Amino acid sequence: MKILVINGPNLNMLGKRDAAHYGTDTLESIEQALIEKGKALGCELTFFQSNHEGGIIDFIQGKTEVSDGILINPGALTHYGYSLHDALADGGLPVVEVHLSDISAREEWRKISVISDIVIKQVSGLKTQSYLVGLEALVENIGSRKKK
Ligand code: DQA
Repeated sequence: MKILVINGPNLNMLGKRDAAHYGTDTLESIEQALIEKGKALGCELTFFQSNHEGGIIDFIQGKTEVSDGILINPGALTHYGYSLHDALADGGLPVVEVHLSDISAREEWRKISVISDIVIKQVSGLKTQSYLVGLEALVENIGSRKKK
C-alpha cells in the first residue's frame, strides 16, 4: 500500500511555531513517527512538503497513478485552497485531512475546510497524534476498498 504524506505551507517550520497550537515536534520527527506506524500497518510512505500550492498540485498529479491514498495537512491552504481541492478531487484517491491544532476551536476563518467535502475523515487537535490516527483511518479505508 503506497501512501502520499503531504504537508502544506509553514509546516516545515514545526518545532519553531506556536507550541500551544502545534506542539513541539519537528516535521522530521513527525515523519519518523509515521514511518514507524507505517511499518506496523504495512505501508510505504512518500513525504512531500511545500510552501507553494502549485508545487503540491504538481506532486499530487505526478504521483496519483502510482499511489493508494493521501494523508494531508494542507496548513492554511485548508481554508482557501480551491485548486488544491480540485487536484485532490480529480485524483480520486482516498484522502484523510489532518491538523495538529483543533481548527474548530480557533478563529472563524480557520473553522472552514474547503477540502472537507472530498475527504473520508478529518482528524484535528491531537498534535502529532493527529497524523498517526489519520494514517490508521486511511489504511483501514483502503484495505476495506481492496477487499470489495
Ligand atoms: C494547521 C491549521 C491551519 O489553520 C494552519 O494554517 C496551519 C496548520 C494545523 O495543523 O493545525 O498551518 O493545518
